[in-house]
Amino acid sequence: MNILILGSGGREHAFAWKIVDSPLCSNLFVAPGNSGTATIATNIELAVNDFQGIKKAVLKFKIEMLIVGPEDPLVNGLHDFFLKDPRLKNISVIGPQKAAAKLEGSKEFAKEFLFKHQIPTAAYQSFVPSELEQGYAFLETLSPPYVLKADGLAAGKGVLIINDINQAKAELKEMLIASKFGAASAKVVIEEFLDGIELSCFVLTDGLHYKILPTAKDYKRIGEGDTGLNTGGMGAISPVPFATDLLLSKIEERIVKPTIAGLQKDKLPYKGFIFIGLIIVKGEPMVIEYNVRMGDPETEAVLPRIETDLMEIFIAIKDQKLNQIDLQINPKSATTVVLVSGGYPKAYEKGKEITGFKTVDNAVVFHAGAKAIGDKVVTSGGRVMAITAFGQNHSLALEQAYKEVSKISFEGINYRTDLGFDL
Ligand code: AMP
Ligand code: GLY
Repeated sequence: MNILILGSGGREHAFAWKIVDSPLCSNLFVAPGNSGTATIATNIELAVNDFQGIKKAVLKFKIEMLIVGPEDPLVNGLHDFFLKDPRLKNISVIGPQKAAAKLEGSKEFAKEFLFKHQIPTAAYQSFVPSELEQGYAFLETLSPPYVLKADGLAAGKGVLIINDINQAKAELKEMLIASKFGAASAKVVIEEFLDGIELSCFVLTDGLHYKILPTAKDYKRIGEGDTGLNTGGMGAISPVPFATDLLLSKIEERIVKPTIAGLQKDKLPYKGFIFIGLIIVKGEPMVIEYNVRMGDPETEAVLPRIETDLMEIFIAIKDQKLNQIDLQINPKSATTVVLVSGGYPKAYEKGKEITGFKTVDNAVVFHAGAKAIGDKVVTSGGRVMAITAFGQNHSLALEQAYKEVSKISFEGINYRTDLGFDL
């Protein structure tokens, strides 16, 4: 099969790394890809929202399956675009159709879905600009901290957690009236704050059946001890040691099953990954968000643990026979350390030469914001590389990952040295 992966991050390098070994993969393409995907696949210079460009590439390279990494093209209806085009409609797309991708594209839609299907989540109300006063009044009924969410996609920056009521009101006004997050904050969801520990649950579905993938925990803050600004993700650990069998069965019964049943009841066509963000409050899982894709960097820790051929799984999704797949998971822990550019997540410089990564021999190096220039590899983004190592437990895996990370350098390199500190 000829396969095209859409995206350019560590997540997409991890997909490519896994798929390229499959006997079911004939030719592998990544668009736009990075310096890592270039070593194992053919990169195609294309933006992920350039649907016409994607169509041209798909026809030119006789692509038979499209795997969509990021949420944007899904929320914009890429899967529907394929289904509507006579020349593309028989190509399998891994990723939900637009109506289902709204679970990530609109926080309000996700909350309505959760309530309708009685899936545990925080209480909420949503507001448009003409309802600013009602928004203030709702804030008065809550106790701090206050959680304000832009309804639409805001590149992971649309959630504010604020302790002071007056500041929360000011931010609500900024979002609704001053378009703080552009069109994304033309509607704002205000929700009850959930106090607990976070965990990500990844589910694959063919629309009828599902498989739960290994759990993972992401470290979102830039600073040690989970301090400082939010980032795209500074590291990941899989499995999550506190995810006991009891907790996992609660997640499956109360969250995964009603989610899959809800998609069917509401006729939301879904073939792909569902990333369910959870907060565990006093042992009880609650949903904080749905994403319609895999997480990054969680993918770089989760995929290396999946021993089953990923292409076999994707083909089963295409044929709606996911129930026939026997998912084999490596019981070892995998931990991923993300190397970032100095200054990230604020402004940072690019073009710094990356050295030493070819000497890493006991970990997998996934490239992200990195590109090849001649025979050099230089930084081209905030998150530069993700290094994944295995161990009998997460501490040993981390020890191994950090040992390998120390071999890599570029000017301004930064990474968290305390991953797993809270486990
Ligand atoms: P989201 O973009 O929805 O993933 O939210 C970003 C982060 O905000 C989450 O990873 C949580 O850490 C936090 N968060 C979101 N909703 C809540 C909530 N209701 N209570 C507490 N923290 C939350
Ligand atoms: N690591 C969080 C995300 O992919 O959204």
